[in-house]
Amino acid sequence: MATANLNIPRHIAIIMDGNGRWASERGLSRSAGHRAGAESVRRVVEACNEFGVQYLTLYAFSTENWRRPAAEIRTLMSLLGRFLKERTADLQRQGIRLQVIGEVERLPVLVRRTLDQVMAATAANTRGVLTLALSYGSRAELVRAAQRLAARVQRGELTPEQITEEALGRELYTAGMPDPDLIIRTANERRLSNFLLWQGSYAEFWVTPVCWPDFGREQFVEALADYTCRVRRYGGVTDAGS
Ligand code: IPE
Ligand code: IPE
Ligand code: MG
Repeated sequence: MATANLNIPRHIAIIMDGNGRWASERGLSRSAGHRAGAESVRRVVEACNEFGVQYLTLYAFSTENWRRPAAEIRTLMSLLGRFLKERTADLQRQGIRLQVIGEVERLPVLVRRTLDQVMAATAANTRGVLTLALSYGSRAELVRAAQRLAARVQRGELTPEQITEEALGRELYTAGMPDPDLIIRTANERRLSNFLLWQGSYAEFWVTPVCWPDFGREQFVEALADYTCRVRRYGGVTDAGS
């Protein structure tokens, strides 16, 4: 597929949902669903690289997901650690830099250590950026940004009038990243579940009934093709005529 004339999103963010449903439809454990989901991550990272999507952000664990049973959380964390170790070489080969958004301090220390190692190893890569949203919640992120701005005002570094959209954006975990152009959600849900509320203000949305473990290049291309047909008005008009 030629990509030269296509309008490729610079930043795709994905709400990876449906691992549990995928597993239960097959009589498997939820853990098996999460394991299969990790394979989809590999496929989608490859597809972004192939189509020149520079930023890929994956919602892997939300602040609300801490409410899940401890055993499931342990499985998810150990899969994450394993995924990171196994995929470092791939990220290097593809020139992808890894970064994390969210309350990293809440993650198990071993996962944090592995994340630090992979982020350091891939820090100089410039072809793409893979961002994992871990213990991420948009509301908590906005509260944190408000607190940081308030502290700066208190220290006399900033006046209240200097709190602009840009200033607030600089206090978010996503500081320095472009806003997502396209948000994909799998498993037929049509909600944001506390994901990138600020950053996704003008993102295009694409949903599919396919559960995350079945999401691959085919669905990715379908989402891209759909995106290229969208008209993004940002509140304006496309035809400036009468
Ligand atoms: C997505 O799959 C993975 C995480 C949210 C961590 P789910 O585990 O939410 O799967 P369903 O929604 O129960 O099918
Ligand atoms: C959203 O999925 C969070 C992630 C994909 C990490 P959930 O399965 O947690 O979302 P809800 O509970 O259906 O809204
Ligand atoms: Mg779910």
